[in-house]
Amino acid sequence: MKIAVGCDHGGFSLKQVIIEHLKNKNIQFKDFGTFDTSSVDYPDYGLAVAEAVASGEYDKGILICGTGIGISIAANKVPGIRAAHCTDTFSANAAGEHNNANIIALGERITGPGLAIDIVDAYLNSKFQGGRHEGRINKISEIEKKYNK
Ligand code: RB5
Repeated sequence: MKIAVGCDHGGFSLKQVIIEHLKNKNIQFKDFGTFDTSSVDYPDYGLAVAEAVASGEYDKGILICGTGIGISIAANKVPGIRAAHCTDTFSANAAGEHNNANIIALGERITGPGLAIDIVDAYLNSKFQGGRHEGRINKISEIEKKYNK
């Protein structure tokens, strides 16, 4: 499994914690930045990770900003991306099982490092259940097609 990771300045510290966790678990990843706490714009990093995942080069993405909101909104503008903003493990698991989310987004100012790691693990360990959920995912793709003509 190859993971694309990115953040803005508001998510930099939490990104470092998550990267350390991925290293400890021998999970392959690429850090798309940002690389310090200087002020940057979250859409730039949401876009970089979303494109890396949408291209198929990376299996999943992890995005972090102050709240997880802005960076997930930006990522969800890329066709094929289903970025789930999660603040609890139940949602993180459901994001994988039901929504086949290919990116999870976290907020450093919302979620502490311990819970954030549990959320990441719940998401990465989840498996899309298919079945009735498949048709719903397809309907999301239809919405994309309708507005990308
Ligand atoms: C940056 O201050 C902050 O707005 C950003 O990290 C994020 O929370 C936006 O949704």
